[in-house]
Amino acid sequence: MIVMSREYDLKPAPSDEGASAIATGKSLINRRQFLSYGFNTVSGVLAASLGVLGFASLLLPPAGSGGGDLAAKYWAKGREDEAWYGPMHEQVMKKSDFVAEAAKSSTGTSGASGVWNGVPIIVTYVDHSKNAGSPVSNGKARFQFMDGYDGTGKYVGHFEDLSDVDPRLLPNENLVMIFGRCTHLCCIPGWQLVSNDYTEDTWTPGGGDDGGTKLFCICHSSRFDPTALEMNTNTNRSNGSKFRYAGIRRSGGPAPVGLPIIPIAMNGDFIEGLPDYVDWYTYCD
Ligand code: FES
Repeated sequence: MIVMSREYDLKPAPSDEGASAIATGKSLINRRQFLSYGFNTVSGVLAASLGVLGFASLLLPPAGSGGGDLAAKYWAKGREDEAWYGPMHEQVMKKSDFVAEAAKSSTGTSGASGVWNGVPIIVTYVDHSKNAGSPVSNGKARFQFMDGYDGTGKYVGHFEDLSDVDPRLLPNENLVMIFGRCTHLCCIPGWQLVSNDYTEDTWTPGGGDDGGTKLFCICHSSRFDPTALEMNTNTNRSNGSKFRYAGIRRSGGPAPVGLPIIPIAMNGDFIEGLPDYVDWYTYCD
């Protein structure tokens, strides 16, 4: 586990033009590229309609491929020939895979869609240990620990208010695992790095909507910055109770808040998730 000091206390990104831009034809997201590069769209949309249990019954990978019961596994069905982790579809995620892929990136990042404990996930690697000491102007990504604001703009707390209590919420060996259902209408975003305004392989600090290296939701073009870690709030869809959570920041689009973190435990080179915060994943049915 790496322990890092607070680096940013920035205001939330002002941009909120995502959905309207799509509606007006101002192409923030190239949907054709997304369909080519993004998370397996067909099963993603299907899973969104079935809910988490349906997703589990559809996507639980076969046992016996290494790692423990809580191992995260790659999911690249339908685009095994396109995603860098396509050849590893349904295999246990390994840190060394992410490190090797990040070394090919101009930002020092890599990301992959997957499944963990029956739910969709995205795991991102950020070469924080190497880049955190360098000027942000060099475009090398690093984690940012930030203040959080809810969907109305109300301050809710700082990421480290949660990580100070439970350090397992911090990135583990430069890795972060994220619950992969959008806080807008529960679609399943995907990781992509493609060449357009919002997906090119660039990184900018502040958790805003400029630069690339963002996580996108295909449904209505919400964007999330997997390097910007904050505290936020959301609501249990079944009983209406509110909860605070550690997550990645929403940088643009109609999603009201960011996506929750699933704390990681390393099992050698294997990446495993900890089921300690399942109440954080209850904003979808
Ligand atoms: S479900 Fe609407 S932007 Fe994700």
